[in-house]
Amino acid sequence: MIFTVAIDGPAAAGKGTISRAVAERFGFAHLDTGSLYRAVGVMGGDPVAAARGLTPDDLARDDLRSLVAGQAASRVAVIPEVRAALLEFQRRFARREGGAVLDGRDIGTVICPEAEVKLYVTASPEVRAHRRWLEVGGDEAMVLAEVRERDARDMGRADAPLRAAADAVLIDTSELGIEEAVRAACAVVAERLG
Ligand code: C5P
Repeated sequence: MIFTVAIDGPAAAGKGTISRAVAERFGFAHLDTGSLYRAVGVMGGDPVAAARGLTPDDLARDDLRSLVAGQAASRVAVIPEVRAALLEFQRRFARREGGAVLDGRDIGTVICPEAEVKLYVTASPEVRAHRRWLEVGGDEAMVLAEVRERDARDMGRADAPLRAAADAVLIDTSELGIEEAVRAACAVVAERLG
């Protein structure tokens, strides 16, 4: 069975948690596509060469979740050649046998416009910054500034900007607990699976 769940949205909206839960519940493979851009971002040197030569080891680095890696990722993610180098791998993953969940910024719009389910997971910048701050600590106002800066870059870039696909189901997690958000996502998938 080929079945793709595309989950897009801004940083710290809850995409990762929802994606992992949906994948586990339905037995689908999961790809966190942000980790591809993070790995390219932290590698240094020529980002296009880094994207073309990406290996599984690069994705296993333990510094990929940091704020610095997130910023580095969104800087290399504006480069069309970097996006092009990562496209085929993501497309193949999306259409693999047995079902796949991919979370990112452009899954429903560019990587897999034919996805059986498209979700757009979002929350207010303040709520997202607060969640990220609980994880990383430091100065909450700076975390909020970082979230806004990354939103602006991801939504404003020319190639594959962050936006909801016209046929995406919106899940706003500003006032939803994680269990409710997961339940809402699973309900959409279950309905589409019939
Ligand atoms: O989702 P995550 O915060 O790990 O993504 C890091 C950065 O990678 C994003 O801010 C975005 O710039 C970029 N990205 C992207 N397209 C994707 C996934 C991530 O441009 N599909």
